[in-house]
Amino acid sequence: EELSFSIEQIEKGGFPHFMIKEIFEQPESIQNTIRGRIYFENGSGRIQLGGLADYLDRLASAKRFIFCACGTSWHASLVGEYLFEHFTRIPVCVEYASEFRYRNPIIYKDDIVFFISQSGETADTLAALKEAKSKGALTIGICNVVGSSISRETECGVYIHAGPEIGVASTKAFTSQVITLSLIALAIASKRGEISTKLITEYLHELNSIPKKIQNLLSQNSIMQEIAKEFNNASNFLYLGRGFNFPVALEGALKLKEISYIHAEGYPAAELKHGPIALIDEFMPVVFIAIKDSLYPKIISNIEEIKARGGRIIAIASEGDTNIESLAEYVIRVPQIIDFFSPVLTSIPLQLLAYYIAVLRGCDVDQPRNLAKSVTVE
Ligand code: AGP
Repeated sequence: EELSFSIEQIEKGGFPHFMIKEIFEQPESIQNTIRGRIYFENGSGRIQLGGLADYLDRLASAKRFIFCACGTSWHASLVGEYLFEHFTRIPVCVEYASEFRYRNPIIYKDDIVFFISQSGETADTLAALKEAKSKGALTIGICNVVGSSISRETECGVYIHAGPEIGVASTKAFTSQVITLSLIALAIASKRGEISTKLITEYLHELNSIPKKIQNLLSQNSIMQEIAKEFNNASNFLYLGRGFNFPVALEGALKLKEISYIHAEGYPAAELKHGPIALIDEFMPVVFIAIKDSLYPKIISNIEEIKARGGRIIAIASEGDTNIESLAEYVIRVPQIIDFFSPVLTSIPLQLLAYYIAVLRGCDVDQPRNLAKSVTVE
């Protein structure tokens, strides 16, 4: 029969939606984010971020970093806060750009303010950038779109090289933002002598192993389809995580909200007992990010609290964790990875879960109602 493909079908590479194509592009997009930025010489690893080379001394002697962003980019910034503080020991404040710009924010001349934006055109983030510039701070852009307003208005920056992201719901840009922030945090920590060359080398090898781990993860997408069949009629979801994976809980909830129109909330897992646990009953699916990191024993007790109250548990767990089977109705396995790089893996099953639920609900996945890809208005 006629083999005529629409331009769009060619652009979608045979995928039914841009969003699922972009989810499956992540092994490659992360490879592109890393490319040309990690070098190994005589067994030692080092990071090369051209856009920040002339500013590395100022970054290494900063008193404080401020991260300004919106939506998914704000969630990536929150992962960035945990990464930066873990590696550089310099305090970070993460700000919703829309709030920051209107509260006459305290910005010191020696502040370094990062603006994280996939499109580089978000009005609130651009306005926050102008506010920071007017107060004399060093402004740094972390954008995907080359030549975008934020990338031009900031003094310097790093492109995330995720490639064009067409789906309104951000997926590959999120993981590339997190990888980019990881590289910057490691470069600053190395400059400050906070991390040995030996450890940097180990971490850079771990970063290089991520695309393959994502490939492995994506091959499990049938489990996500099974879970989506079970829960696509739920009215509410809870997403719970701790530490580096608390921002992933927020991001997982946003993915579900914006494309399936199901209400979902992300919380730090230990926060449930301060009120939200009253929500728990057998109609409340609870997604736990429960990988075997330093907080694992704590998250297991949080899972037990929810299970005891009849909550239905979906767990993102580590490969080889047999303990979780008795606690969760569904278990998605992610490959073993160092705690602080885990958000790049744990976020992917949540992207797939939101996608498959939205498709089953007949939603317009690539262009959800009421949304635009870049919010260039206030
Ligand atoms: C994320 O899935 C949404 N599309 C939205 O929250 C987005 O992250 C936000 O509007 C920020 O966009 P930006 O990264 O282009 O600034």
